[in-house]
Amino acid sequence: MAEKVQDKWARWVLERGHAGDPMQEEAKLEFLRPVRARVLDNAHLTPGELLLDVGAGDGLIAFGALDLLGPSGNVIFSDISQDLLDYGQSLAEELGIRDRCSFVRTSADDLAAIDDSSVDAVTTRSVLIYLSFPRKQDAFHAFHRVLKPGGRFSVYEPINRFGHPEPDNIFLGFDVAPVMELARKVKEIYRKDDDKPDATLVDFDDRDLLEFAENAGFSSIHLQYEAEISPGTWFTSWDAFLDTSGNPLIPTQREAIQRALTPQEAERFEAHLRPLVERGEATNRLASAYLFGRKG
Ligand SMILES: C[S@@+](CC[C@H](N)C(=O)[O-])C[C@H]1O[C@@H](n2cnc3c(N)ncnc32)[C@H](O)[C@@H]1O
Repeated sequence: MAEKVQDKWARWVLERGHAGDPMQEEAKLEFLRPVRARVLDNAHLTPGELLLDVGAGDGLIAFGALDLLGPSGNVIFSDISQDLLDYGQSLAEELGIRDRCSFVRTSADDLAAIDDSSVDAVTTRSVLIYLSFPRKQDAFHAFHRVLKPGGRFSVYEPINRFGHPEPDNIFLGFDVAPVMELARKVKEIYRKDDDKPDATLVDFDDRDLLEFAENAGFSSIHLQYEAEISPGTWFTSWDAFLDTSGNPLIPTQREAIQRALTPQEAERFEAHLRPLVERGEATNRLASAYLFGRKG
């Protein structure tokens, strides 16, 4: 039987975001665990509540919430990817907690399948970034609509404007000055590919998020913005570097290099870049926003 082809969201969350490589996946989780803890902390969950996790993906936040909610608490996993909802459902069955989870296909910008004033808290991580600017605002209206009076929302989003676009001599944090013309060709693939499908990743910042929340009617709102420039990279090997893509909407580095460069050029690019990747010689630029608040 032919293997089922997963949608682009599931392919990225379950594989291309970490190259299907266990060490790279662990590096990703090392970054994500403290983020999950803060998102959940900011949601101020108490036992017995009902949480809606928007764009639940593989359940990073949603599964993490179940302990805090205790045996009588429940989580709605919502996503637009049926493949990821199916994945979460099988995992919940395996873990013996299926009865405390529900799986709902609905888009973050309207949450049409969720009733008004029906949940105690809404969480979301790295989901709004995939909505166009006006739909980001719509999502906050939807959060407000589905929350009970006194309900809380807690959001984490990367603020990609901080590190993008990279200057010509930098490629994913690595100094590519000696092969700048090759790096430029590879970057061109992303630009073309774009047709701007990933323009949503850079069309907002932390202050926009704050404004969206206020416009939606939330009363007490807190924003924590963090920016960091540090030496190092999160890539754990050359292959993991090649087979990862920065987000679900763009090619992996290997695909982009193959499309942009001749085999000879690709060899020259690798000769320069590979030792830097293997030594972890890069500069990491990262900014993020934690936003949380209350309805009424
Ligand atoms: C980067 S993943 C984050 C997954 C999860 N929130 C986490 O913390 O690991 C982005 C998720 O957003 C989902 N997504 C993308 N567009 C969406 C939309 N319009 N409505 C709901 N979910 C969406 C994707 O299917 C994917 O699960």
